[in-house]
Amino acid sequence: MTSEAIVDLTALGEDFTRDPYPVYAELRERGPVHRIRMPEGSDAWLVVGYEAGRAALADPRLSKEWRNASPDLGVQQVASGTTMLSSDAPAHTRLRKLVTREFTPRRVEQMAPRVQEMTDALLDTMLKEPGRADLVEALSFPLPITVIGDLLGVPSLDQDSFREWSNASVSATALADRLAAARSMSEYLTALLADKRENPGGDLMSALIHAADEDGDRLSGPELLGMAWLLLVAGHETTVNLISNGVLALLSNPEQLAALRADFDGLIEGAIEEMLRYDGPVETPTYRFTTEPVDIGGTVVPGGGELVLVAMADANRDPARYPEPSRFDIRRDARGHVAFGHGIHYCLGAPLARLEARIAIRSLLERCPDLALDIHPAAVTWRSGMLVRGPESLPVRW
Ligand code: HEM
Repeated sequence: MTSEAIVDLTALGEDFTRDPYPVYAELRERGPVHRIRMPEGSDAWLVVGYEAGRAALADPRLSKEWRNASPDLGVQQVASGTTMLSSDAPAHTRLRKLVTREFTPRRVEQMAPRVQEMTDALLDTMLKEPGRADLVEALSFPLPITVIGDLLGVPSLDQDSFREWSNASVSATALADRLAAARSMSEYLTALLADKRENPGGDLMSALIHAADEDGDRLSGPELLGMAWLLLVAGHETTVNLISNGVLALLSNPEQLAALRADFDGLIEGAIEEMLRYDGPVETPTYRFTTEPVDIGGTVVPGGGELVLVAMADANRDPARYPEPSRFDIRRDARGHVAFGHGIHYCLGAPLARLEARIAIRSLLERCPDLALDIHPAAVTWRSGMLVRGPESLPVRW
């Protein structure tokens, strides 16, 4: 059986960007896979629902390597260097192994005092303002980028330029702009790596350069560049939205906020999982390409490099998995959500992201006992594109 006519998501415009959930839910009612036209302009197959989505995320027949993409798709990779996220096993295994030990929950827990220090400094600055701020500018953006810069050993990171290039490369801007941004970022990172090579320290980037220099074929130049690029981009484009989307959900649901304030220690971990499930930072993860025909719920997606997107945002709101999925409930058991992906590409930075969100949200609520939204939730403007989901700005008052 082939799928029905193409669903043109482009035609839905701003409404789809603001609230894609009902669109995905309607598609899910009709079946687990659909032919779509993305706001980014290309055609793809969209997988919806929990079971089908989770299976697709871990399906080895769906390759992450761009050389497997059909030339007819008209899509092009926007990245710097070679990364684990755009590799299949065994290349993936090798790249991931090099950094895995830096991101174990134990190793990450040791970063808590530094993350707390950075959060405190950002909140000190924010609270000097007279009772109003854009939370994205004040906390959600600067915290993750400072943390990942610190971990990699680039405290001097030019955050403004980096943010501009990084945002452009993951948004639905014109391909030429995305490629130009990726090029600027590559040049910047190449210079950073050269500087690190001259002045090594005890940081992750120095350790990776050392691994590359010690044994040339362990980490090639493009792989080193790719690793720095991936960690920096993946380390902040997402966590910024976990903090913003999480705070937005709390402030839009006063009874949930009150419950959390009343029992922080008991509820914060579950609350973070619910934030990830309810309105996670990644709407559809990075592209996958078919290497052979794949049957999804009776519809055969052809082989030969077709583009497959998984609506993770919909998987996490599938009523077959989560009762009353559109209700934000910090006491529910949200475990099993796929906000960090599933399978071999499961997010390497998940423990770090959880730690940052826990510290940021706790500190924010403690220091602002009367924190409130300074905008109607429906008036929030959202980042474009189907990859990341988060507000462009989030006005709050206290
Ligand atoms: C709330 C924050 C975050 C979310 C929601 C998130 C989400 C994801 C998702 C969905 C994937 C899989 C993509 C796919 O299968 O196509 C992924 C992979 C990855 N993430 Fe995260 N991420 C977050 C934070 C971080 C942080 C803080 C770091 C690093 C410091 C990081 C590093 C990575 C890396 C390196 C990969 C690729 C793993 C691989 O290919 O094996 N992420 N992330």
